[in-house]
Amino acid sequence: MYAAVAKGQPQVPHAPQVPQEQNNQKNRALNDEQIYQWLSELVRGTNRERALLELGKKREQYDDLALVLWNSFGVMTVLLEEIVSVYPFLNPPVLTASVSNRVCNALALLQCVASNVQTRGLFLSANFPLYLYPFLSTNSRQRSFEYLRLTSLGVIGALVKNDTPEVINFLLTTEIVPLCLNIMEISSELSKTVAIFILQKILLDDQGLSYICTTYERFHTVASVLSKMIDQLSLNTNVQSQAPQQSSNSSGRLLKHVVRCYMRLSDNLEARKALATILPEPLRDGTFSSILQDDVATKRCLAQLLSNINDQR
Ligand code: TRP
Repeated sequence: MYAAVAKGQPQVPHAPQVPQEQNNQKNRALNDEQIYQWLSELVRGTNRERALLELGKKREQYDDLALVLWNSFGVMTVLLEEIVSVYPFLNPPVLTASVSNRVCNALALLQCVASNVQTRGLFLSANFPLYLYPFLSTNSRQRSFEYLRLTSLGVIGALVKNDTPEVINFLLTTEIVPLCLNIMEISSELSKTVAIFILQKILLDDQGLSYICTTYERFHTVASVLSKMIDQLSLNTNVQSQAPQQSSNSSGRLLKHVVRCYMRLSDNLEARKALATILPEPLRDGTFSSILQDDVATKRCLAQLLSNINDQR
Protein backbone atom coordinates (compact mmCIF):
# COMPACT_ATOMS: atom_id res chain seq x y z
CA MET A 1 0.00 0.00 0.00
CA TYR A 2 2.83 2.40 0.77
CA ALA A 3 5.39 1.22 -1.75
CA ALA A 4 4.61 4.18 -3.99
CA VAL A 5 5.63 6.55 -1.23
CA ALA A 6 8.93 4.81 -0.70
CA LYS A 7 9.72 4.89 -4.39
CA GLY A 8 8.60 8.49 -4.62
CA GLN A 9 11.23 9.66 -2.13
CA PRO A 10 13.67 11.86 -3.99
CA GLN A 11 17.26 10.66 -3.80
CA VAL A 12 19.77 13.39 -3.28
CA PRO A 13 22.69 12.20 -5.37
CA HIS A 14 25.65 14.18 -4.10
CA ALA A 15 24.64 14.91 -0.56
CA PRO A 16 27.03 13.92 2.23
CA GLN A 17 25.93 10.35 2.76
CA VAL A 18 26.10 9.52 6.42
CA PRO A 19 24.54 12.48 8.19
CA GLN A 20 21.88 12.80 5.51
CA GLU A 21 20.83 9.21 5.94
CA GLN A 22 20.72 9.31 9.70
CA ASN A 23 18.69 12.44 9.55
CA ASN A 24 16.30 10.95 7.01
CA GLN A 25 15.77 7.79 8.98
CA LYS A 26 15.01 9.70 12.12
CA ASN A 27 12.56 12.04 10.45
CA ARG A 28 10.60 9.60 8.38
CA ALA A 29 6.99 8.86 9.12
CA LEU A 30 7.48 6.04 6.67
CA ASN A 31 9.41 4.12 9.31
CA ASP A 32 7.02 4.70 12.19
CA GLU A 33 4.77 1.70 12.79
CA GLN A 34 2.45 3.79 14.93
CA ILE A 35 1.65 6.01 11.99
CA TYR A 36 0.30 3.02 10.07
CA GLN A 37 -1.67 1.93 13.08
CA TRP A 38 -3.40 5.30 13.26
CA LEU A 39 -3.83 5.57 9.50
CA SER A 40 -5.54 2.25 9.47
CA GLU A 41 -7.83 3.22 12.34
CA LEU A 42 -8.58 6.45 10.51
CA VAL A 43 -9.54 4.74 7.27
CA ARG A 44 -11.47 1.86 8.83
CA GLY A 45 -13.24 4.34 11.05
CA THR A 46 -12.78 2.31 14.21
CA ASN A 47 -11.22 5.10 16.22
CA ARG A 48 -11.27 8.01 13.87
CA GLU A 49 -11.40 10.84 16.35
CA ARG A 50 -8.37 9.60 18.26
CA ALA A 51 -6.52 8.81 15.03
CA LEU A 52 -6.98 12.40 13.83
CA LEU A 53 -5.59 13.67 17.10
CA GLU A 54 -2.60 11.31 17.22
CA LEU A 55 -1.62 11.87 13.59
CA GLY A 56 -1.87 15.61 14.16
CA LYS A 57 0.60 15.30 17.02
CA LYS A 58 3.15 13.72 14.65
CA ARG A 59 2.89 16.64 12.27
CA GLU A 60 5.92 18.54 13.53
CA GLN A 61 7.98 15.42 13.93
CA TYR A 62 8.20 14.17 10.34
CA ASP A 63 8.99 15.94 7.10
CA ASP A 64 7.33 13.24 5.03
CA LEU A 65 4.03 12.89 6.88
CA ALA A 66 2.34 14.86 4.09
CA LEU A 67 3.52 12.32 1.51
CA VAL A 68 2.32 9.42 3.58
CA LEU A 69 -1.07 11.06 4.12
CA TRP A 70 -1.51 11.95 0.48
CA ASN A 71 -0.46 8.56 -0.89
CA SER A 72 -2.12 6.24 1.59
CA PHE A 73 -5.32 4.75 0.31
CA GLY A 74 -8.47 6.50 1.53
CA VAL A 75 -6.84 9.04 3.82
CA MET A 76 -7.60 12.22 1.88
CA THR A 77 -11.13 10.97 1.27
CA VAL A 78 -11.66 10.49 4.98
CA LEU A 79 -10.38 13.99 5.69
CA LEU A 80 -12.80 15.37 3.12
CA GLU A 81 -15.60 13.36 4.67
CA GLU A 82 -14.76 14.82 8.07
CA ILE A 83 -14.98 18.31 6.62
CA VAL A 84 -18.20 17.85 4.72
CA SER A 85 -19.90 16.19 7.69
CA VAL A 86 -19.59 19.47 9.61
CA TYR A 87 -21.42 21.60 7.02
CA PRO A 88 -24.87 20.89 8.50
CA PHE A 89 -23.83 22.55 11.79
CA LEU A 90 -22.83 25.83 10.21
CA ASN A 91 -26.19 27.26 9.35
CA PRO A 92 -27.95 27.69 11.72
CA PRO A 93 -24.75 27.91 13.78
CA VAL A 94 -24.89 24.95 16.16
CA LEU A 95 -21.30 23.74 16.17
CA THR A 96 -20.25 22.23 19.51
CA ALA A 97 -16.73 22.50 20.88
CA SER A 98 -16.04 18.80 20.39
CA VAL A 99 -17.22 18.72 16.77
CA SER A 100 -15.13 21.81 16.12
CA ASN A 101 -12.06 20.24 17.73
CA ARG A 102 -12.43 17.12 15.72
CA VAL A 103 -12.67 18.85 12.36
CA CYS A 104 -9.81 21.16 13.33
CA ASN A 105 -7.63 18.09 13.85
CA ALA A 106 -8.56 17.02 10.33
CA LEU A 107 -7.71 20.53 9.09
CA ALA A 108 -4.34 20.34 10.81
CA LEU A 109 -3.54 17.32 8.66
CA LEU A 110 -4.64 19.20 5.56
CA GLN A 111 -2.34 22.02 6.62
CA CYS A 112 0.50 19.55 6.70
CA VAL A 113 -0.28 18.50 3.11
CA ALA A 114 -0.56 22.16 2.08
CA SER A 115 2.86 22.96 3.56
CA ASN A 116 4.83 20.26 1.81
CA VAL A 117 6.35 21.23 -1.56
CA GLN A 118 5.74 17.77 -2.96
CA THR A 119 2.05 17.65 -2.12
CA ARG A 120 1.10 21.34 -2.39
CA GLY A 121 0.49 21.28 -6.14
CA LEU A 122 -1.57 18.09 -5.92
CA PHE A 123 -3.57 19.62 -3.10
CA LEU A 124 -4.37 22.61 -5.30
CA SER A 125 -5.18 20.54 -8.38
CA ALA A 126 -7.68 18.61 -6.33
CA ASN A 127 -9.29 21.94 -5.33
CA PHE A 128 -9.05 21.13 -1.64
CA PRO A 129 -9.10 24.79 -0.54
CA LEU A 130 -12.63 25.15 -1.93
CA TYR A 131 -13.97 22.83 0.74
CA LEU A 132 -12.89 25.35 3.35
CA TYR A 133 -15.16 28.10 2.01
CA PRO A 134 -18.16 27.19 4.12
CA PHE A 135 -15.94 27.41 7.23
CA LEU A 136 -14.30 30.66 6.21
CA SER A 137 -17.61 32.31 5.42
CA THR A 138 -19.20 31.69 8.83
CA ASN A 139 -19.94 34.79 10.86
CA SER A 140 -20.62 33.46 14.33
CA ARG A 141 -18.47 34.82 17.15
CA GLN A 142 -18.76 31.63 19.20
CA ARG A 143 -15.46 30.07 20.20
CA SER A 144 -16.11 26.91 18.21
CA PHE A 145 -16.49 29.02 15.06
CA GLU A 146 -13.52 31.26 15.79
CA TYR A 147 -11.38 28.17 16.15
CA LEU A 148 -12.74 26.71 12.92
CA ARG A 149 -12.02 29.91 10.98
CA LEU A 150 -8.56 30.24 12.48
CA THR A 151 -7.61 26.65 11.65
CA SER A 152 -9.02 26.91 8.11
CA LEU A 153 -7.03 30.10 7.56
CA GLY A 154 -4.01 28.19 8.78
CA VAL A 155 -4.34 25.88 5.78
CA ILE A 156 -4.42 28.82 3.35
CA GLY A 157 -1.63 30.50 5.32
CA ALA A 158 0.52 27.39 4.87
CA LEU A 159 -0.11 27.54 1.13
CA VAL A 160 1.01 31.16 0.72
CA LYS A 161 3.90 31.04 3.15
CA ASN A 162 6.48 30.01 0.58
CA ASP A 163 5.80 32.59 -2.11
CA THR A 164 4.86 30.30 -4.97
CA PRO A 165 3.19 32.18 -7.84
CA GLU A 166 1.32 28.95 -8.57
CA VAL A 167 -0.45 29.26 -5.22
CA ILE A 168 -1.29 32.93 -5.69
CA ASN A 169 -2.64 32.25 -9.18
CA PHE A 170 -4.83 29.54 -7.77
CA LEU A 171 -6.15 31.79 -5.01
CA LEU A 172 -6.91 34.57 -7.48
CA THR A 173 -9.35 32.25 -9.23
CA THR A 174 -11.18 31.71 -5.93
CA GLU A 175 -13.11 33.92 -3.52
CA ILE A 176 -10.38 33.81 -0.91
CA VAL A 177 -9.73 37.56 -0.90
CA PRO A 178 -13.30 38.58 0.00
CA LEU A 179 -13.38 35.77 2.58
CA CYS A 180 -10.21 37.07 4.20
CA LEU A 181 -11.58 40.60 4.15
CA ASN A 182 -14.70 39.46 5.95
CA ILE A 183 -12.62 37.71 8.60
CA MET A 184 -10.51 40.85 9.01
CA GLU A 185 -13.73 42.62 9.92
CA ILE A 186 -15.48 40.19 12.18
CA SER A 187 -13.03 37.76 13.73
CA SER A 188 -10.69 37.59 16.69
CA GLU A 189 -7.33 39.31 16.59
CA LEU A 190 -5.51 36.06 15.87
CA SER A 191 -7.68 35.22 12.84
CA LYS A 192 -7.38 38.80 11.65
CA THR A 193 -3.62 38.46 11.72
CA VAL A 194 -3.61 35.28 9.64
CA ALA A 195 -6.17 36.74 7.20
CA ILE A 196 -4.17 39.91 6.65
CA PHE A 197 -0.99 37.86 6.31
CA ILE A 198 -2.66 36.03 3.40
CA LEU A 199 -3.88 39.29 1.88
CA GLN A 200 -0.38 40.71 2.18
CA LYS A 201 1.13 37.70 0.43
CA ILE A 202 -1.37 38.11 -2.41
CA LEU A 203 -0.63 41.84 -2.69
CA LEU A 204 3.12 41.22 -2.77
CA ASP A 205 2.66 39.16 -5.91
CA ASP A 206 2.49 41.34 -9.05
CA GLN A 207 -0.53 39.55 -10.40
CA GLY A 208 -2.14 39.70 -6.98
CA LEU A 209 -1.65 43.46 -6.83
CA SER A 210 -3.14 44.05 -10.25
CA TYR A 211 -6.00 41.65 -9.46
CA ILE A 212 -6.95 43.80 -6.50
CA CYS A 213 -6.40 47.08 -8.28
CA THR A 214 -8.20 46.24 -11.56
CA THR A 215 -11.55 47.52 -10.39
CA TYR A 216 -12.24 50.42 -8.09
CA GLU A 217 -14.72 48.19 -6.25
CA ARG A 218 -12.04 45.69 -5.30
CA PHE A 219 -9.53 48.29 -4.31
CA HIS A 220 -12.15 50.13 -2.34
CA THR A 221 -13.27 47.05 -0.39
CA VAL A 222 -9.69 46.28 0.58
CA ALA A 223 -8.91 49.89 1.49
CA SER A 224 -12.00 50.27 3.62
CA VAL A 225 -11.34 47.10 5.60
CA LEU A 226 -7.77 48.25 6.21
CA SER A 227 -9.06 51.62 7.30
CA LYS A 228 -11.48 50.04 9.78
CA MET A 229 -8.57 48.11 11.22
CA ILE A 230 -6.62 51.31 11.66
CA ASP A 231 -9.58 52.88 13.45
CA GLN A 232 -9.73 49.96 15.85
CA LEU A 233 -6.00 49.91 16.42
CA SER A 234 -5.94 53.62 17.16
CA LEU A 235 -8.80 53.18 19.64
CA ASN A 236 -6.75 50.45 21.35
CA THR A 237 -3.76 52.75 21.43
CA ASN A 238 -5.77 55.42 23.22
CA VAL A 239 -7.10 52.91 25.73
CA GLN A 240 -3.61 51.61 26.26
CA SER A 241 -2.21 54.93 27.31
CA GLN A 242 -4.32 54.43 30.42
CA ALA A 243 -3.62 50.69 30.72
CA PRO A 244 -0.36 49.90 28.99
CA GLN A 245 1.09 46.45 28.35
CA GLN A 246 -2.22 44.78 27.54
CA SER A 247 -2.09 43.12 24.12
CA SER A 248 0.27 45.73 22.71
CA ASN A 249 2.30 43.00 21.03
CA SER A 250 -0.52 41.58 18.99
CA SER A 251 -1.70 45.08 18.05
CA GLY A 252 1.80 45.79 16.88
CA ARG A 253 1.80 42.66 14.78
CA LEU A 254 -1.49 43.56 13.16
CA LEU A 255 -0.41 47.15 12.53
CA LYS A 256 2.75 45.94 10.86
CA HIS A 257 0.71 43.96 8.32
CA VAL A 258 -1.73 46.82 7.73
CA VAL A 259 1.12 49.23 7.02
CA ARG A 260 2.73 46.76 4.61
CA CYS A 261 -0.54 46.23 2.76
CA TYR A 262 -1.05 49.99 2.31
CA MET A 263 2.54 50.36 1.26
CA ARG A 264 2.20 47.66 -1.36
CA LEU A 265 -1.06 49.14 -2.65
CA SER A 266 0.81 52.41 -3.14
CA ASP A 267 3.01 50.65 -5.69
CA ASN A 268 0.04 50.73 -8.04
CA LEU A 269 -0.39 54.19 -9.58
CA GLU A 270 -4.18 54.28 -9.52
CA ALA A 271 -4.24 53.04 -5.95
CA ARG A 272 -1.58 55.56 -4.99
CA LYS A 273 -3.73 58.41 -6.25
CA ALA A 274 -6.72 57.15 -4.30
CA LEU A 275 -4.67 56.63 -1.14
CA ALA A 276 -3.47 60.22 -1.26
CA THR A 277 -7.01 61.18 -0.27
CA ILE A 278 -8.26 58.21 1.70
CA LEU A 279 -5.27 57.09 3.79
CA PRO A 280 -6.52 57.21 7.41
CA GLU A 281 -5.34 60.13 9.52
CA PRO A 282 -3.81 58.04 12.36
CA LEU A 283 -1.20 56.76 9.92
CA ARG A 284 -0.20 60.34 9.12
CA ASP A 285 -0.26 62.00 12.52
CA GLY A 286 2.06 59.80 14.57
CA THR A 287 -0.71 58.03 16.53
CA PHE A 288 1.26 54.79 16.37
CA SER A 289 4.73 56.13 17.02
CA SER A 290 4.92 54.50 20.45
CA ILE A 291 3.76 51.09 19.16
CA LEU A 292 6.30 51.29 16.35
CA GLN A 293 9.07 52.57 18.59
CA ASP A 294 11.21 49.43 18.31
CA ASP A 295 10.10 48.32 14.87
CA VAL A 296 12.50 50.04 12.50
CA ALA A 297 11.35 48.10 9.43
CA THR A 298 7.70 49.06 9.83
CA LYS A 299 8.58 52.67 10.63
CA ARG A 300 10.56 52.81 7.43
CA CYS A 301 7.73 51.19 5.52
CA LEU A 302 5.27 53.77 6.83
CA ALA A 303 7.62 56.59 5.92
CA GLN A 304 7.95 55.20 2.40
CA LEU A 305 4.17 54.93 2.11
CA LEU A 306 3.71 58.55 3.16
CA SER A 307 6.38 59.70 0.77
CA ASN A 308 4.82 57.71 -2.09
CA ILE A 309 1.46 59.32 -1.61
CA ASN A 310 2.86 62.78 -1.00
CA ASP A 311 4.41 62.61 -4.45
CA GLN A 312 0.86 62.44 -5.70
CA ARG A 313 -0.33 65.68 -4.25
N1 TRP B 1 -16.03 38.19 -7.15
C1 TRP B 1 -15.55 39.41 -6.54
C2 TRP B 1 -14.78 40.19 -7.61
O1 TRP B 1 -14.22 39.55 -8.49
C3 TRP B 1 -14.63 39.04 -5.44
C4 TRP B 1 -14.35 40.18 -4.54
C5 TRP B 1 -15.19 40.78 -3.71
C6 TRP B 1 -13.11 40.81 -4.39
N2 TRP B 1 -14.55 41.75 -2.99
C7 TRP B 1 -13.28 41.78 -3.39
C8 TRP B 1 -11.86 40.64 -4.97
C9 TRP B 1 -12.23 42.60 -2.98
C10 TRP B 1 -10.81 41.45 -4.56
C11 TRP B 1 -10.99 42.43 -3.57
O2 TRP B 1 -14.71 41.40 -7.56
